[in-house]
Amino acid sequence: MQVRATTAGPLETGADTIVVGVFEGEGVAHDLPDGSLGALLDAGEARREFKRLAVIHFEGRRFILIGLGDRAAFDAEGARAAAGVAHGRSRELGTKTLCWEVPHHVGDAVVGGLVEGTLLHAYRFDRYKPDSDERREVEELVVSAHHEISGPVESAAIITAAQNRARDLGNTPANDLPPAALADYAAELAERVGIRATVLNEEAITEMGMGAFAAVARGSDQSARLIALEYDGPDAPSAAPRIALVGKAVTFDSGGLSIKPAGSMHEMKFDMCGGAAVIEALGALAELQAPVRALGVVGATENLPSGRAVKPGDIVRALDGTTIEVNNTDAEGRLVLADCISYAVREGAERLVDVATLTGGIVVALGSVYAGLMSNDDDWAELVEACGLTSGDLVWRLPLHEQYAEMIKGRYAKLVNSTERRAATSITAAEFLHNFAGDVPWAHVDIAGTAYDVRRPYLSRKGATGFGVRLLVEVARAAAL
Ligand code: BES
Ligand code: MN
Ligand code: ZN
Repeated sequence: MQVRATTAGPLETGADTIVVGVFEGEGVAHDLPDGSLGALLDAGEARREFKRLAVIHFEGRRFILIGLGDRAAFDAEGARAAAGVAHGRSRELGTKTLCWEVPHHVGDAVVGGLVEGTLLHAYRFDRYKPDSDERREVEELVVSAHHEISGPVESAAIITAAQNRARDLGNTPANDLPPAALADYAAELAERVGIRATVLNEEAITEMGMGAFAAVARGSDQSARLIALEYDGPDAPSAAPRIALVGKAVTFDSGGLSIKPAGSMHEMKFDMCGGAAVIEALGALAELQAPVRALGVVGATENLPSGRAVKPGDIVRALDGTTIEVNNTDAEGRLVLADCISYAVREGAERLVDVATLTGGIVVALGSVYAGLMSNDDDWAELVEACGLTSGDLVWRLPLHEQYAEMIKGRYAKLVNSTERRAATSITAAEFLHNFAGDVPWAHVDIAGTAYDVRRPYLSRKGATGFGVRLLVEVARAAAL
């Protein structure tokens, strides 16, 4: 979908459908010459309650009147939801060009939210479906306001397109997106947006001493990849810390020899969503020409059982020398991330955020509303939490504690990758990673519950959400300030 901002009035944009919002206790800002929008409200057919819709026609155009509820409660998330609902109706009606009339006296965040909600709702993953090119789609979104809003509109369009590409990566089945294909995709994206990409194949990963990552990779015939992307914003303040975004990209997680039950194993094609978010966040930062210095590190591998696979009880040596007993081959994400975090620290990371579909425990704890946040640094955690609120990618902090760290101390090696009892699995996973971040301010975001199959008015109920793209872009921008 094309997106543009304008200071022209909605009627001058050539749009065939115009969306007008109305708040509780307020009238329509610009009624039609015959007063029909206000009349529709008076008649009770249109309502001011949040997301209520009414449609009328005037001089060959459609008008969607949508309730925005309480003005004081209407934020970017409200705008995403309203825009998602309005887009849904427009698509049904066969709209080609959709114009949102921005309500008076709202900020840039709401403007961005209207763009995000529209584009996220318009997303479909139907490339494997028959007749997918015959479906009708809204082709253009015009955002009209009295004042200049092209900044927030363009920025939201760039970030949301990146998020939708992350959804494509997530939804693509594992047979069509093995680690090598993900790395090729990342390298092409890097080329397009003008950032540096470095890709290590499985031989190089092993050679370098990434024994934890390599242990996961060896069970599969598909060669693993470490993908590093580097963006140095031209206008980054010299004092801006170098931030590393680290992503888990297990392109398929069968559990390995500690194999998963069959029931929902197919969902483990989504186990690369953290990595996808990192790749697309780096791409978006470059497209935005954001004044930040960012490094993306993505560990891409399959986790499969085979005659070569790592076995429960095996002891491996991570890049930083840490020895690990692999007691459960299904706790593979932390093995991959451990070496990716060490790699980022070696590359000079001064701040770390990792994003991973790491534990089923976080789904139990937080469902799909909040992702889990765990951190070794209160200031850094607060910044990430605040960016969660502004981006709408919500995160809720869980504690770390020396006694949780005790639970992953090994009997035969320094660490075990899985605790004996299933207690606090999300936190002990984070404590495992904590070892590799050391003293670098680090935040771990567990997105197992938010990466796919999430219910939001602007998302499809099934499939990848692209969670993390908006959060990571915000975090990188905020960290550089
Ligand atoms: N990829 C899974 C976590 C996951 C579970 C993601 C559900 C999305 C939905 C991860 O690799 C895993 O298997 N974690 C185990 C760890 C356990 C063996 C310590 C888990 O959480 O059960
Ligand atoms: Mn697993
Ligand atoms: Zn996994």
